[in-house]
Amino acid sequence: MDNPFDLTGKTILVTGASSGIGKEAARIISLSGANVILTGRNNERLEEALSNLKGDGNLSISADLTKSDELSILVDQVPALDGVVFSAGITGHLPAKFIGNEDLSNFFDINYKAPVLLMSLLLRKKKINSKASLVFLSSIATKYPYFGGSLYGSTKAAIEAYSRVLAIELAPKGIRSNCISPSFVRTPMVEGAAETISKEVMEKFEKMMPLGFGEPNDVANAIVYLLSDASKWVTGSNMVLGG
Ligand SMILES: NC(=O)c1ccc[n+]([C@@H]2O[C@H](COP(=O)([O-])OP(=O)(O)OC[C@H]3O[C@@H](n4cnc5c(N)ncnc54)[C@H](OP(=O)(O)O)[C@@H]3O)[C@@H](O)[C@H]2O)c1
Repeated sequence: MDNPFDLTGKTILVTGASSGIGKEAARIISLSGANVILTGRNNERLEEALSNLKGDGNLSISADLTKSDELSILVDQVPALDGVVFSAGITGHLPAKFIGNEDLSNFFDINYKAPVLLMSLLLRKKKINSKASLVFLSSIATKYPYFGGSLYGSTKAAIEAYSRVLAIELAPKGIRSNCISPSFVRTPMVEGAAETISKEVMEKFEKMMPLGFGEPNDVANAIVYLLSDASKWVTGSNMVLGG
């Protein structure tokens, strides 16, 4: 019997592939048989991520996804895709009273506008195959508020709403769209946050999670499920990985 989790023959684009969840997702996707196109800004980290992959059909393309010319060049360079993992993003703590216009742009440009504009271009240039799977990285921050998290949580709530509508619009072509909402995962993003949050508070957060903090691998495995035919009846959903 065929393994429904097998990704052989598929081509998957992974954004944010130079670090953390995207980097591990790219590795596990290649182990599952797909060709992977990695994208991120930092060339050195991108090349290192590429060197971890199985198979010789993988490639990396660097792009700042907040720059429209770079987004366009990326889309022109990618072949037709059977899946996209939208992992590129930023986080940060900012109490509501300090939020300015520039902060709104910084957060929304990469966490919301970049995946939305990337999808528009991919669809218009017919780079998304029928039966493809789209996986957006949201966060449990949309459901569990924390001090200073309004901007980050808002960008993720917006992408969840977007993904659910995409699921309806693209269903006639069998294209699925889902979100994954992890809690704390040990990545450079969380290590960066830990620099501004006290050790005691980080320990308190971890104690609130019965299974503790997650590893990039925990999220990558869920991503493979959503990319694979094993989830062919799953769309418009938001998988919470809360530990
Ligand atoms: N870690 C967690 O606990 C956690 C929890 C919930 C949700 N998430 C979400 O999961 C996703 C991945 O998080 P992570 O922890 O893996 O973060 P990470 O290790 O900090 O990686 C972020 C990635 O985003 C890329 N990126 C940032 N700005 C970009 C831009 N303007 N253009 C192109 N790429 C850009 C970075 O590329 P360069 O390094 O090359 O610049 C990097 O590859 C994010 O969307 C995050 O919000 C994470």
